[in-house]
Parts: sequence; structure tokens; C-alpha cells
Amino acid sequence: MTNLLDIEALSVWLATRRGPQKAVDDVSFTVGAGEIVGIAGESGSGKTMTALSMLGLLPPGATTAGSVRLDGDELLGRPARYLRGIRGRQIAMVSQDPATSLHPMLRVETQLTEHMRHHLGVSKSEARSRAVELLGTVRIPDPERALRAHPGQFSGGMRQRIAIASALACEPKLLLADEPTTALDVTVQAGILRLLDRLRRERGLAVVIITHDLGVMSSVADRVCVMYGGRMVEVGPRSAVLAAPRHPYTRGLLAALPHPESGNAALRPIPGSPPTLGAIPAGCAFHPRCDFRKDTCGTQRPVLAQVSGAHSAACPIDPWGGPDE
Ligand SMILES: Nc1ncnc2c1ncn2[C@@H]1O[C@H](COP(=O)(O)OP(=O)(O)OP(=O)(O)O)[C@@H](O)[C@H]1O
Ligand SMILES: [Mg+2]
Repeated sequence: MTNLLDIEALSVWLATRRGPQKAVDDVSFTVGAGEIVGIAGESGSGKTMTALSMLGLLPPGATTAGSVRLDGDELLGRPARYLRGIRGRQIAMVSQDPATSLHPMLRVETQLTEHMRHHLGVSKSEARSRAVELLGTVRIPDPERALRAHPGQFSGGMRQRIAIASALACEPKLLLADEPTTALDVTVQAGILRLLDRLRRERGLAVVIITHDLGVMSSVADRVCVMYGGRMVEVGPRSAVLAAPRHPYTRGLLAALPHPESGNAALRPIPGSPPTLGAIPAGCAFHPRCDFRKDTCGTQRPVLAQVSGAHSAACPIDPWGGPDE
């Protein structure tokens, strides 16, 4: 059986003043229909560039290698025209930047119905009644009234719901949700995550949810990918990755999460900062910040290796059990 989305050995080089620099480095993962896959990692780890490469929306001058297949159909290297047909219709994105998801000057109705009329070829009144239904799906009270309003008239959480409704307007198979809850308070966050969970159950929608916060994954993701320095450092079923993280970086991310009993304060942030583009350390990219590093970590780049079942990590050291070999 083919996966809905199959990403294999994806690399992305961005054009910089110092020449092309690798922002995504040999990343592979799959997403099945109705599956929610989370991508976590600190700022700059390459999460957004991974998502944009699926849509042909990388910054100008970017180059790619590897393969991104949707239903077996290769998307990398396809002409812009072809990818425009995929965007919205097959893969939709709720962007990290709220300003790009919704147009502040256009009424909600226009934003929801234009795509539908263009992509699905439905009449104005058909598009309108679908829009009312969509707003109901994302639990916007009084959808008729909401259609006449502008995005600025809604709270952040409601705006994000409308952005999701707009992304779902053409019934895509895959939703890329880039930090869909970052700017929202915890209760609203939970509401959006429940919404995504419901949509995958009711519509078989596949979701890639991107966040710097592993905690966001804990309630909804089936599988979790952890990225660092453009590389995938750990991947596996949510329960395995969150309950028994193998990579010291994943452990660090989890230790940095605020715990209910400590209020909102992060418990133990990972010391140091993630590498910048073009300055990825040799060997394991995380080694300068790693409590468990050995001499070889600065020279030998670890590859993803099976921990158990579908759980893999790119670290030869077991933070609990000592060195593997
Ligand atoms: N237009 C651009 N030109 C050059 N470098 C860029 C550009 N956009 C992003 N980068 C760099 O590419 C790397 C990967 O960026 P990306 O946006 O994918 O990170 P991210 O994981 O989404 O981070 P965040 O959590 O901050 O959104 C970073 O080092 C970033 O600074
Ligand atoms: Mg990002």
C-alpha cells in the first residue's frame, strides 16, 4: 500500500549571500490517510522548509534533492503551474504567520468561497452554503454572521479556526499545520488540536503538525518526528518517542516543557542555542550541547537506527543504558 505522503531523502539548500546552505538534510518520513504526524524541533531546525518544499513554496533560489510523493505522484521539481493545482486542492497549509493565512481586508466569505469556486467550480450559492457548513465544522458560532465579518473582528483562536476552515475549503487530503497554536492560550490550543483530531476521524484528513513544543503533540499525533539542524534525529510512534525518548535532544526538549505542578515555567531549558544555517557542527549536529557526548560524536555523523519497532533515533548512545556497543 502506498502512503498518502512519502518523503524520501529530502534535502533543501537555501540561497544565501555565502552561497547555497543546507536547511533540510536527508529527511524521510511518511504520512498515511487519516494520520497525524508531528514535526518538532527548536527554531531553525528546518520544519517550515520541509513543509514548504511539499508545496513548491520555498524561498527564491532554493534547490532540492530527494523525493516528495503524494499518492505516488512526484511533486519535487514539478512546474509551478502544476503545484498551484495541488495547493489548496490536495495539500493545504495553515501558515505559521497568521498574516499570510487570512487577508485582513477581505470578508471571511470571500476568503472561504473564492478557492472553492476556482478549484471546485461550484456556484456562488453552493460555495456559500459550503462555507457556512465549514465554519460550523470548526465551531465558529453564528456562521452566517461570521461570513460577513473581517478577520480582525475575531479573537486569535477564532481567526486560527477560520484559517483552518479556509485551508479545508477544497477538501484537501493533507493539511500542513505550521505552528497552528503557538500564539494561542492553552485552552484555545487544546480546542484546535481536538478539532484536527476530529477532522481526521470524520474525513480521513491527514495532518502534518509542526511545532517547537513536543507537548502539543502529546494529545494528538500518531507519530512524532524530531528535527535538529535540518536533520531528523528521532522518529517513532508518539507513545514511544514521548515516554522513552532515545535521542538526548528529544530528552532535552521534553525536560524543557512546563509541567502542571511548576506553573508555566520551563523546567530545564537545553543550554546553548541551535546552530544557524551554514554553521552546522561536524559529526552529530547536537554534540556541542549534549550531556552524553563522546569523542566520536564530534566527527561521526550518526544515522537513524532502529530503537524498537518503528522507533528510530540518530544517536549511538543510550542515555539510559550507556553505549550500545
Ligand atoms: N528565506 C530564507 N533565506 C535564508 N535562510 C532562511 C530563509 N528562511 C529560513 N532560513 C533559515 O533556514 C533554516 C531553517 O528554517 P525553518 O524556517 O525551516 O526553521 P523552523 O524549524 O521552521 O523554525 P521556527 O520554529 O523558527 O519556525 C534556519 O536556519 C533559517 O534561519
Ligand atoms: Mg517554522
